[in-house]
Amino acid sequence: MRFYVTTPIYYVNSSPHIGHAYTTIAADIVVRHRRQRGDDTFFLTGVDEHGTKVRRVAEAEGITPQEYVDRVADTWRALPARVDARPDFFIRTSDEGHKAFVRDFLQRIYDNGDVYEGVYAGLYCVGCESFKLESELVDGACPDHGDAVQYLEEKNYFFRLSAYQERLVRLYDERPDLVLPRFRYNEARSFIEGGLQDFSISRAGEPWGITLPWDESQVAYVWAEALVNYLSALTYARPGTDLRPTLWPEVRHLMAKDILRFHCVYWPAMLLAAGYEVPKQIFVHGYLLLDERKMSKSLGNVISPLDLVGVYGADAVRFWAIRSVSFGQDGTVSLDSLHERYERELGNELGNLVSRTTAMIARYRDGRLQPATGSAEVAQELDDLGASVAERIDAWDLTGGLEAVWKVVRRLNAHVEERRPWDLAKDGARSAELDGVLSDLADGLRAVAIALAAYVPTTAGAILASLRQPADLAWENVASGRLVAADSIQPAAPLFPRVDAPAVA
Ligand code: MSP
Repeated sequence: MRFYVTTPIYYVNSSPHIGHAYTTIAADIVVRHRRQRGDDTFFLTGVDEHGTKVRRVAEAEGITPQEYVDRVADTWRALPARVDARPDFFIRTSDEGHKAFVRDFLQRIYDNGDVYEGVYAGLYCVGCESFKLESELVDGACPDHGDAVQYLEEKNYFFRLSAYQERLVRLYDERPDLVLPRFRYNEARSFIEGGLQDFSISRAGEPWGITLPWDESQVAYVWAEALVNYLSALTYARPGTDLRPTLWPEVRHLMAKDILRFHCVYWPAMLLAAGYEVPKQIFVHGYLLLDERKMSKSLGNVISPLDLVGVYGADAVRFWAIRSVSFGQDGTVSLDSLHERYERELGNELGNLVSRTTAMIARYRDGRLQPATGSAEVAQELDDLGASVAERIDAWDLTGGLEAVWKVVRRLNAHVEERRPWDLAKDGARSAELDGVLSDLADGLRAVAIALAAYVPTTAGAILASLRQPADLAWENVASGRLVAADSIQPAAPLFPRVDAPAVA
């Protein structure tokens, strides 16, 4: 199966923070998981570089917008690597390939008769890059940005969104899983049913942007071209190969609820107008919010979770972000909870299990690991694990998938406590039993590592290496009985060494 995942292209004029990283982490988990299942995957992320906001920041610094975006693009390009995400392509909307494609795309809509000229008069918020209704303002300012809105009156080109209302309703009828979770589908649908207004797709008098092919005096409205990145990237990400025939419409868009309307309403309509198929699926997740009050005094408030990657590692931040908030819902997290999960779940529950298992194999079996018949119940749990994790990830329940693996981690810890291998080791007559328990633990950790690989890739690799198991992450290996004999197993170094929280400040 082909599986193409996108994150939003982030506004280049802000700085990367944990909220952006959150979407990037989630996309990376899904892509890595799909690859383990044998899918042909593609992962796109990048930056949104046009718009009045960017030009103003550049002007304030006395440089051209292009100089400005060139300077900040690298900080954004580095974001995925900071959280160990591996996109296949990083798009910038100032790329020549994007600009050329956008012109062609908008021309197709124009030729279709879905663009007309009109005058837009209204209140505009540069922070949102959108017009506002008087009723949306709070004390005359944008509620999201607190910026004073400005009155704008200009000749614009409009996209006939209103003409697509019925087709969109039909689309939503035919494709009940087009937008997930369900409450987001309902939200998008009722917005459509509430009546759609045409929207302006151009700006007059704004020099920083992509000029319209039929009127060089105007540039494309930033949203009207940013959405197009999901298609444009496919035309030049692999020079000489057009990826559209293989990857479109096999696309899954991932984003937070702030930009639901653009993705669930405007974008499908624009695609239909330009003669493209609509996306396979749109998943709208919630906000990951930091509770500043709950921040440890010792950590201070100068440290962002993204900076803590340097302290706890990318795996811990990925784990914490996905585990703390049920994916799809809003949730508040704190930096203390990162420290706490690192110690309790990663350190004590998973890390110690690896240390104990390898130490016992080293001590009782001189480092030799021999597959043996152990507990039928443990084997059964491993056999069920692959399907239960896959089922949850397919439903975008990334948090549930992680919990399904964690249940097995806890089960293996309980197995150690129940079977007490240290007692078995004292009794020569129970040697086969000891082999069975060690085999259960090693096979269990092997299966757990593969099931966790999409979430915590470095940790998964380290677990497999410490047990001298093949680094083959194919999903069918998440099952019992795939353990291979090995020797020279050493007590593993702690996977999650103690981090002194106060020392971080
Ligand atoms: N440039 C537009 C997107 C264009 S896509 C064709 C934009 N950029 S943004 O920088 O504001 O990014 C918004 C997105 O960043 C959200 O939809 C979400 O994916 C991510 N997030 C930013 N802060 C977030 C949280 N606090 N929590 C969860 N996601 C967050 O909008």
